[in-house]
Amino acid sequence: MRKKRILSGMRPTGKLHIGHYVGALENWVKLQNEYESYHLIADYHVLTTDLNIENIYENSIDMLIDWLATGLDPKKSPMFRQSQIKEHTELALIFGMLITTSRLERNPTLKDQVRELNIENISFGYLGYPVLQASDILLYKGDAVPVGEDQVPHVEITREIARKFNSQYGDVFPEPVPLLTQFARLQGLDGSAKMSKSLGNTILLSDDPETVKAKMKKAVTDPKKIRKGDPGNPDICLVFSYHKKFNKEEVPEIDAGCRSGALGCVDCKMNCAAKISLFLEPIIEKRNYFEKNIDIVKDILADGEKKAKVTAGETMNDVRTKMKLG
Ligand code: TRP
Repeated sequence: MRKKRILSGMRPTGKLHIGHYVGALENWVKLQNEYESYHLIADYHVLTTDLNIENIYENSIDMLIDWLATGLDPKKSPMFRQSQIKEHTELALIFGMLITTSRLERNPTLKDQVRELNIENISFGYLGYPVLQASDILLYKGDAVPVGEDQVPHVEITREIARKFNSQYGDVFPEPVPLLTQFARLQGLDGSAKMSKSLGNTILLSDDPETVKAKMKKAVTDPKKIRKGDPGNPDICLVFSYHKKFNKEEVPEIDAGCRSGALGCVDCKMNCAAKISLFLEPIIEKRNYFEKNIDIVKDILADGEKKAKVTAGETMNDVRTKMKLG
């Protein structure tokens, strides 16, 4: 029996931050040993919210370098751009016939985004975001998709499309399951629920120790703890939530010190910054290597795209045969 397959994807928005690591990459790196993995750079999906994509190539390369630097192994798992594999658009066109617009309008992820980004008129392509995503997943016959909570509705739509296709034309696709990232997403430095480039509240995987320190200095803490000596509440402090991820051993001590007031926020933040930089050190080192050897990165992408094309072509052959389009 073949190894189960995962398809994971991210939109290329440039350099990644530690939230991407905690919420996705850490999981992907582990999963690549258990599953046959395909890693997709969802560059077409960027167009749903931004028509200006003049930096799309640079952003894709930056993201790819971060993937490699955190331990994704191109020998185990091809990495490729959606836009280079024509079968994505072909399959998405067919899938668009297998789902109703009212079903897509009920997509809660879309509703949240429309609210967050204040979008007034949504494009046909944006409404069809999950249809393209279904083609991303099913073109590689993904059995599972590692995602955060917000993407679960898209996997559900993918399952519905797979079921519809299989019952209409015959079995081609698995019904993929979401593999939820266990760690909740990382809060932003400004106290927002999520770290995100558009909110400008991130620590990048490529930030050097001085930058991490400077960013941590501005991090929001318990507003009732104004100076050292004041008791604080670590449960509402984002710096404490970072300690839980990057400085596990000292958590009980920091918890007690914060509550008693003995530990001041400045010391606590600088300690946290140092631990984050310790974690980032090997990533930055690898990143520098790939930046200096950009041809290696380009080869990895070319090789991934070659492999992805083979799998995508095989699936499209199955699809065309079943649909009598041969
Ligand atoms: N929609 C995903 C996100 O915003 C990105 C994505 C595109 C994706 N295609 C995918 C994720 C396929 C998993 C599988 O995070």
